[in-house]
Amino acid sequence: MTDGKPMVEVTNIRREFALPRHSLFAPPRRVVAVDGVSFSISRGDTFGLVGESGSGKTTVARMLLKLDLPSAGNVRFEGSDIFTQDRRQERIYRRSVQAVLQDPYGALSQRMQIGSIVAEPLRAQGLARGEALAAAGRMLEAVGLGADTLNRYPHQFSGGQRQRIAVARALSVEPKVLILDEPVSALDVSVRAQILGLLREMQQRLGLTYLFIGHDLAIVKYMSTHVGVMYFGRIVEIGPASALFGRPLHPYTRKLVATAKGRQKLGEVRLTGEMPSPLAPPSGCHFRTRCAFAAERCAAEAPVLSELKTGHSVACHFAAELPEPA
Ligand SMILES: Nc1ncnc2c1ncn2[C@@H]1O[C@H](COP(=O)(O)OP(=O)(O)OP(=O)(O)O)[C@@H](O)[C@H]1O
Ligand SMILES: [Mg+2]
Repeated sequence: MTDGKPMVEVTNIRREFALPRHSLFAPPRRVVAVDGVSFSISRGDTFGLVGESGSGKTTVARMLLKLDLPSAGNVRFEGSDIFTQDRRQERIYRRSVQAVLQDPYGALSQRMQIGSIVAEPLRAQGLARGEALAAAGRMLEAVGLGADTLNRYPHQFSGGQRQRIAVARALSVEPKVLILDEPVSALDVSVRAQILGLLREMQQRLGLTYLFIGHDLAIVKYMSTHVGVMYFGRIVEIGPASALFGRPLHPYTRKLVATAKGRQKLGEVRLTGEMPSPLAPPSGCHFRTRCAFAAERCAAEAPVLSELKTGHSVACHFAAELPEPA
């Protein structure tokens, strides 16, 4: 599917949030939610971002959707910077990049009929009501819902059906990129596979490019061609999905993969220590307080991502010397 051309290029983006002070005399507090993240997504590919809660995944998504601005770094879409667009370019961009989020119930306006919900982005593009509704009906059929869906309301549908509606709405304006932020996390396990299947089918059929965010490794693996593993705002490992899951290089990824395979008992993958506070992440390598291989250097110096295998990079001082996973 892919033609190797970068559709989205994220370069060294950073996002800090200033938090309210505890008191007038307390020092200012801040969270570095995203700390120098870079990746690119080729046309037709799916880049998976995986990481624990609070690792910065949604913050990355929000910047790509231009719902938030980076404190530093830039994002290019088809080669041009998305944060220096004029109004016309911005309008095209907002149409080209659509989102499907975790909670379909929250995302759909409860008082609107499904037809209007799906037609709304088309109406915003200036399409007449009748045409927009007709297109909405076709889109709803394409995602596996009957055209009789048009006059009904969100509460009359199951979670899986509502997520189909959200997909139809996102696709109605013929986007090039979908930002999928935990699109199946709120769904029953039984319907997850259907929605993932639908997303993959639509990707094939329409040649879409995806950013797929999740915390379930098996799902991210199933969906993604390339994957980045986030920990406390940084990508600690990045590479082709097959390599990254087949031969994880970072102790954190190794832990995640082993856990997903039910091999928790292995001593080398045990996470030690508590989850640090995002207000005071450990110096050097943020992961060191939970890493079985941590040494002095890890506290002194933050490891940078370096390519250990072709296209497969890891941010760990000792990645090349770690024992083979059992
Ligand atoms: N608007 C904000 N103001 C202050 N802090 C924020 C804001 N948005 C995010 N954060 C903080 O930034 C960090 C990253 O949050 P983010 O929502 O990006 O994580 P996530 O990986 O999407 O987590 P989850 O898996 O729970 O969705 C967290 O510590 C969060 O508390
Ligand atoms: Mg999130």
